[in-house]
Amino acid sequence: MTVTQPDSLPATTTHHENTVAIVGGTGALGLGLATRWAHSGVHVRIGSRRAEAAQGCADKLPGAVGGDNTTMIEGAAAVVVAVPFSAHAETMRAIAKIIQPGQLVIDTTAPLLPAGPRGLRPIAPWAGSAAQQAQALLPDGTGLVSALQTVSAATLQNTELPLDEDVLLCGDHTADKVLAADLIDRIPGLRTIDCGLLDISGISERITALLIGINKRYKTHTGIRLTGLPQPLPR
Ligand SMILES: NC(=O)c1ccc[n+]([C@@H]2O[C@H](COP(=O)([O-])OP(=O)(O)OC[C@H]3O[C@@H](n4cnc5c(N)ncnc54)[C@H](OP(=O)(O)O)[C@@H]3O)[C@@H](O)[C@H]2O)c1
Repeated sequence: MTVTQPDSLPATTTHHENTVAIVGGTGALGLGLATRWAHSGVHVRIGSRRAEAAQGCADKLPGAVGGDNTTMIEGAAAVVVAVPFSAHAETMRAIAKIIQPGQLVIDTTAPLLPAGPRGLRPIAPWAGSAAQQAQALLPDGTGLVSALQTVSAATLQNTELPLDEDVLLCGDHTADKVLAADLIDRIPGLRTIDCGLLDISGISERITALLIGINKRYKTHTGIRLTGLPQPLPR
């Protein structure tokens, strides 16, 4: 991943390295990420409001564990938030009470209204984007990046399908983005692109609605790929 943004805060430090907790890990995206990470040697902790449901999902994945969201977050190096936008603020407030300095939050949320006659529609959160809403709700200094909004959960869950796409990554601190990129790049076929500061995230978040429409029209699970970048991307 190319890193271009200056840092204004000290780098975060890791907790249990190589350990990722997924809040909403029983859902479509959370389980898809859990599946790919578990098969890539990452220690996956599947979080849920229902510990038994999380354990049931974890039992099917190599080396994964499951439990309630709070227990899973404790000590994890990274906390991936994969809940619907309708639960985003409530979830971030809950995480704010337990997140510790040095833990990284990766927000995957695309702000969408539930499906109506016109399908899922993008909405504008009061803070500007889901990521900025997260930033406003988490304690000052929490490591936070936004990523993965354009990656299809269906493709992630089916390990027979190869991935071949880019992941747009936004965040205010280089060290956080490097940590997130290290984790995401562990999934074969995903390439993280540093897209700049967190306030750019609204653009990535809105692409989800666009992709959902394309997927419906062409009956597929598309992702995005940026062209013209150096290969491999400089670190
Ligand atoms: N689906 C995709 O292809 C995709 C792709 C990119 C990004 N995203 C983003 O990823 C996020 C999750 O999407 P998804 O499709 O995985 O959603 P989902 O399957 O509908 O829900 C994910 C999980 O969120 C938890 N949850 C639901 N309501 C909650 C609440 N009120 N409070 C706390 N937790 C709640 C549930 O876990 P428990 O009931 O087990 O607690 C559920 O399994 C969304 O923000 C979406 O925009 C999705």
